[in-house]
Amino acid sequence: MTWRSLFIFLGLFWTTFLGSEMSLICLSDFEEYARDHLSKVTWDFIAAGADDCFTRDDNLLAFKRIRLRPRMLCDVSEIDTKTTVLGKEIAFPVGIAPTINHRLAWPDGELSTSRASDAMNTCYITSTFSSSSAEEITAAAPNGLRWFQLYIFRNRKMSEQLVRRVEALNYKALVLTVDVPYGGKRRNDIRNNFKFPKYFEVKNFENASERSDDLESLTNPLDPSVSWKDVHWLQNLTRLPIIIKGILTKEDAELAVEHGVQGIIVSNHGGRQLDGVLATIDALPEIVNAVQGRVEVYVDGGIRTGSDVLKALALGARCVFIGRPIFWGLTSQGEEGVRKILQILHDEFRLSMGLAGCKNISEINRNLVQFSKV
Ligand SMILES: *[C@@H]1O[C@H](CO)[C@@H](O)[C@H](O)[C@H]1NC(C)=O
Ligand SMILES: *[C@@H]1O[C@H](CO)[C@@H](O)[C@H](O)[C@H]1NC(C)=O
Ligand SMILES: *[C@@H]1O[C@H](CO)[C@@H](O)[C@H](O)[C@H]1NC(C)=O
Repeated sequence: MTWRSLFIFLGLFWTTFLGSEMSLICLSDFEEYARDHLSKVTWDFIAAGADDCFTRDDNLLAFKRIRLRPRMLCDVSEIDTKTTVLGKEIAFPVGIAPTINHRLAWPDGELSTSRASDAMNTCYITSTFSSSSAEEITAAAPNGLRWFQLYIFRNRKMSEQLVRRVEALNYKALVLTVDVPYGGKRRNDIRNNFKFPKYFEVKNFENASERSDDLESLTNPLDPSVSWKDVHWLQNLTRLPIIIKGILTKEDAELAVEHGVQGIIVSNHGGRQLDGVLATIDALPEIVNAVQGRVEVYVDGGIRTGSDVLKALALGARCVFIGRPIFWGLTSQGEEGVRKILQILHDEFRLSMGLAGCKNISEINRNLVQFSKV
């Protein structure tokens, strides 16, 4: 045994058995770490699903019901994970889904997320309800690719002002969330008496009371009357591409295409809204089939491994987005933790491609998967 191999052995021993953050090698390790290190109230809020949490859990289980059909002898000595979303190149097809208030998990919250996303060359959908303003998030990583998640608020002026600000900040698309006419019922948040940050802590609304005379619309901004005509209103307001997030049926996918949007995110809000809806990976095929390549289709919910990403792409997703794992990464080490989460998914996805016989993204297709009978 050479000194070199002894050092490598000791290094492996240290990382495997002794190091704590160093031994986080898959997303579920980060999940466990976050569960142990966040307060119970914060953990419960992030982990929450609606009602019985059936859909939240089914999002993960549904991936495990899908089997892969790998091809052999394909010369996978070189593997290319690059792709594009709305014409912009990203290093691999995993982006960051919009989630509220990253300071729940790390002191500088979204600023770390923004830097990590840029470092890993992927797409970050920043939430309207971020704990940093769109301006601050941009300043943290000026060259990063960002889309802005938006609601159509009761007070349309508030939505319009956000659109104007992110246009000026060079955001590349608007992601309109459509599955929250009302907030879902999350039992632990009720039991814990979880309080949303007050409106002034939502940094995008920092000066909203100066901009708006309507304080009611700040404390209760969501508008259950929103319908497709409001999508027209938004299209008329901006030249940014519009992506609809929260579609689960072919009927709505058809309507989205007819209304001229540029993309669809198949999403059930991480199982936090209507419990009992389809797992997103189960809803994806009918939507891809309805859309027939006319717009890009993305999916979020339950992606925890590189082979999950491979399955989603085989079923027609252009790119996947991850939500809760970003909080786990932030909890462990802020920017570094988010980078590790993305790096792990990148490496696992690349390995899965190689083991399945795919050299590049365009070789991933429907023949790669089969729905298990049990
Ligand atoms: C709010 O106003 C202050 C003072 O003018 C400014 O520094 C800050 O950037 C503004 N915040 C937002 C989110 O526009
Ligand atoms: C579109 O915008 C124009 C100019 O702002 C406005 O006059 C018109 O009423 C808008 N149309 C719709 C359908 O909102
Ligand atoms: C992917 O690989 C195939 C087979 O080698 C090749 O024909 C195709 O051009 C590649 N596509 C891209 C986008 O590189």
